[in-house]
Amino acid sequence: MKIATSVLSCSTKIEDCMTELNQTSSNYLHLDVMDGNFVSNDTVDMMDEVLKYNQLPLDIHLMVEDVDAYITKYQSFHPTYMTFHIEASKETEKVIKRVKSFGIKVGIALNPETEISLLEPFLKDIDLVLVMSVTPGKGGQSFRPEALEHIRYLIQKREENGYQYEIEVDGGIKEDTISLVSNVDMVVSGSYIINGIYEEQIQKLREKCK
Ligand code: DX5
Ligand code: ZN
Repeated sequence: MKIATSVLSCSTKIEDCMTELNQTSSNYLHLDVMDGNFVSNDTVDMMDEVLKYNQLPLDIHLMVEDVDAYITKYQSFHPTYMTFHIEASKETEKVIKRVKSFGIKVGIALNPETEISLLEPFLKDIDLVLVMSVTPGKGGQSFRPEALEHIRYLIQKREENGYQYEIEVDGGIKEDTISLVSNVDMVVSGSYIINGIYEEQIQKLREKCK
C-alpha cells in the first residue's frame, strides 16, 4: 500500500516540516489545495510555500471550484496525480481529458455523503478515485465509516468491468483506522504522521496494513 503524507497540519515552519518529510519513505506528498470557496479554508499560499521545498512525487488534491485554473497552475510541477472533486465539477469529461493531456494521472474525489453512482460515467476514463473519509476542509478529523461503503462499491465495479483506477482514502487515517481500509491502493495521512517522528509514524502505518 502506498502512503501519501499531507502537511496541512504542519504547525511549525513549513521548511522544517518539509525537510523532515523529504527524508522519509512516504511515497507521495499529498498537496491539499483549498481555494476558500469549495471549502472555507484557503491553503493556496501555504501550498506554494510547501512546493518550494518538496522533493517527493506529487499527489495533488484540488478542493477548488475553478478546477481549470488550478490545473493550469499546478501542471508545471508535473504531479503524478491530480484529483478534483465531483461535487465541484461542471464539465467532468473535459477536465479529465485536460489533465491527461499533460501526461498526469487524473483522479476524482468524492465526499462521504456524495452518491457514488455520480462517478459511474467516468470510472472507465480515470486513473484514481479519492474516497474522502472526512468532510474536506481541514486535517485532524475522525475517520467516517461511510467511506467503507464507497470502497466496497469501487472494488466491485473495478472487478466487474476491468477498470484500471487505483483507490485512495483520505482523512482520519491513523494506526487504529488504517486496517479498516487495507483493501485500497493508497492512503493519505496527515496529522497522525505530522504529530510524531514522521518516519516512525509511517512505519507504524505500514506495519498495520501488511
Ligand atoms: C482534508 C484533506 C486531507 C487531510 C488529511 O480536507 O483533504 O488530506 O489533510 O489529514 P488527516 O490525516 O489529519 O485527516
Ligand atoms: Zn486531501
